[in-house]
Parts: sequence; structure tokens; C-alpha cells
Amino acid sequence: MNRTFDFRLYRPLLLITGLVLVVALPTAAVVGDAAAGKTKAKACVTCHGLDGISRMPDAPNLSGQIPEYLALQLRAYKSGERRHPVMNVIAKPLSDEDIDDLATWYSEIEVTVTPPQ
Ligand code: HEC
Repeated sequence: MNRTFDFRLYRPLLLITGLVLVVALPTAAVVGDAAAGKTKAKACVTCHGLDGISRMPDAPNLSGQIPEYLALQLRAYKSGERRHPVMNVIAKPLSDEDIDDLATWYSEIEVTVTPPQ
């Protein structure tokens, strides 16, 4: 009987494991401290407001946004993967804890949506 290791048999398993990691890793749940985030958000008020409603025409609203999305964007600005002259500078000194706290603060602000008639 031929007992040589046949890598091809394991390919589907490796592929599935890889896909699970790619999908699961960047969307790890954000568990931050909203009160701490509120304090840290003082650095963001000029453009995003303390309530996450934009104060500048080129800055997006942040309130009510999905926390994982906010954290992902802040990490992308920090690493330079997402480029923006202002946000790259702002995000650079943020720690993982700062990012989770800020993402929690802005995401927990309740937003009411009323579409136009
Ligand atoms: C001087 C203005 C300014 C300040 C201060 C500022 N931002 Fe921004 N922020 C922007 C602009 C402009 C953009 C849009 C950048 C782009 O096009 O990628 C942005 C984008 C973002 C985004 C991406 C939102 C999205 O919808 O993709 C996040 C998250 C964010 N800022 C968080 C913060 C946080 C948290 C702080 C404070 C620690 C902060 N910003 C401070 C101007 C600012």
C-alpha cells in the first residue's frame, strides 16, 4: 500500500481554514469603554463632533456606525493601509485600547433615521 503523504488531499481543508481566518480576523468584536472613548474623542470634535455628527464638509459622520468598521478604519489609517493626510497623523499615536474605546463611543451614539418621503 502506498502511504506517501498526498498534500492534494488536504488542499480543501487548508483553503477552508484560510478563508475562515481571513473572514474572522479583521471582524473580531470590538469591546471598548465608551466613557473613556468620550474623553479621547475630544481630539476629534473639530471635524467629527463629540456626537459624531460631522463639523467639516469632508469629514464623515461617525455616530451609530458599526464599531468593527470604525476600529478597522482607524487601524488602517494607523498602518498607512488607508491613506489620508490628516487621519494618518491622527491615528498614528492611538493604541489598540484607544481605538476600541473611540469605536465604542461613536458606535453607541444612537442615531434616528428618517428617509425623505
Ligand atoms: C482635522 C479634522 C479631523 C480630525 C481632528 C479627526 N478626523 Fe477623522 N476624518 C477626517 C476626514 C477628513 C476623514 C475622511 C478621510 C478619508 O477620506 O479617508 C476622516 C475619517 C475618519 C474615519 C473613517 C470613517 C469612514 O466612514 O470610513 C474615522 C473612523 C475617523 N475619521 C475617526 C476619527 C477619530 C476617532 C478622531 C479623533 C481621535 C478623528 N477622526 C479626528 C478628519 C478628521
